[in-house]
Amino acid sequence: MKFASFMLFAAATTTLAVSCNNNSENKNTAVKPGVTKTDWGKVDGKDVYLYTLVNDKGDTVTITNYGGTVTSFVTPDKNGKYSSVIVGFDSLAPYLQKPPYFGALIGRYGNRIGNAQFSLDGTGYKLAANDGKNTLHGGLKGFDKVVWDASIPNDTVPSLTLKYVSKDLEEGFPGNLNVTVQYTLTNDIGLKIEYSAETDKATPVNLTNHSYFNLSGDVTNTILGETLMIDADNYTPVDTTLIPTGEIKSVKGTPFDFTTPKEIGKDFANVQGGYDHNFVLNKKDNLLDKVAEVSDSISGRVMDVYTTQPGLQFYTGNFLDGKFINRGGTPLAQHSALCLETQHFPDSPNKPNFPSSILKPGEKYHEVTVYKVSVK
Ligand code: GLA
Repeated sequence: MKFASFMLFAAATTTLAVSCNNNSENKNTAVKPGVTKTDWGKVDGKDVYLYTLVNDKGDTVTITNYGGTVTSFVTPDKNGKYSSVIVGFDSLAPYLQKPPYFGALIGRYGNRIGNAQFSLDGTGYKLAANDGKNTLHGGLKGFDKVVWDASIPNDTVPSLTLKYVSKDLEEGFPGNLNVTVQYTLTNDIGLKIEYSAETDKATPVNLTNHSYFNLSGDVTNTILGETLMIDADNYTPVDTTLIPTGEIKSVKGTPFDFTTPKEIGKDFANVQGGYDHNFVLNKKDNLLDKVAEVSDSISGRVMDVYTTQPGLQFYTGNFLDGKFINRGGTPLAQHSALCLETQHFPDSPNKPNFPSSILKPGEKYHEVTVYKVSVK
């Protein structure tokens, strides 16, 4: 353990040093490929660790088993300067202050369930209302606030396997749900997240990751200047409590049209409260397809999003208010970061016309999302 901590300290220190250099080859030789583990504290009497995944080029991802949270994703910009495109903290304590899901795994049901209830096979289920009268991101203690069991698989690429068993009626959801999430950092700078689950009773399942990205690597730049493409001809309009009305609406002629790359700020003034909407992805299968692309002219970074899921929540950090301080000391102000949460549609358990999010005993839930960063 001591050795692992030392390795991590060395890795963190050297990454910082490289970030001051201009490295035109975009290869960070100061960190060694592989996975290291360091102690990060305790929650609920369980050990919490920070894992550092380093690929062959020296790009790094740090993940803690508290909430399965991605705390940083360090990649080079067009000048070879390394910085994190994901916001977060360098210690456990601020994560316990309930930040709005920074980098965390979300479950059992990502996004909202209207009126904190649903019925399934004739039985009504009451959930905790933690967002007005609705349930948000799994309830009061969702998968983002539990300690996952972590192991480092013997892989050729750096990976981390996280497991969590969500008990029958935890947060009101039926069935014991066995969840496995595998994070991998590929050599082409892809953060791959693979979700698997099985249940012993029919239950809604909607797993996602809630990373907040700022591709410039500097959260003093708002994300309104970044350019976004989403391969979605339709979105799901919402009521005032952000529950979908049930309508599947064309984006054509609306501020929600990102079918060709558009600056996020362009139509922003016409979206009340900012973007916080589910896009109905054009993909018709559950293959791993490219569904979105963000680019940032300051750093030259581009991020492609691939997923097997049918929906994508585009959220412009509307509720960020400067209360939480990013690593490096900058407050996370409104619109300082964005989320692209791959998912089933919000409130699907109460919307029969949406793709079903129900997992039944004997079935295997399996979804994959990749956030792949490059420079132009
Ligand atoms: C999701 C929701 C937002 C907000 C954030 C967390 O993106 O859609 O409305 O709740 O999570 O603050």
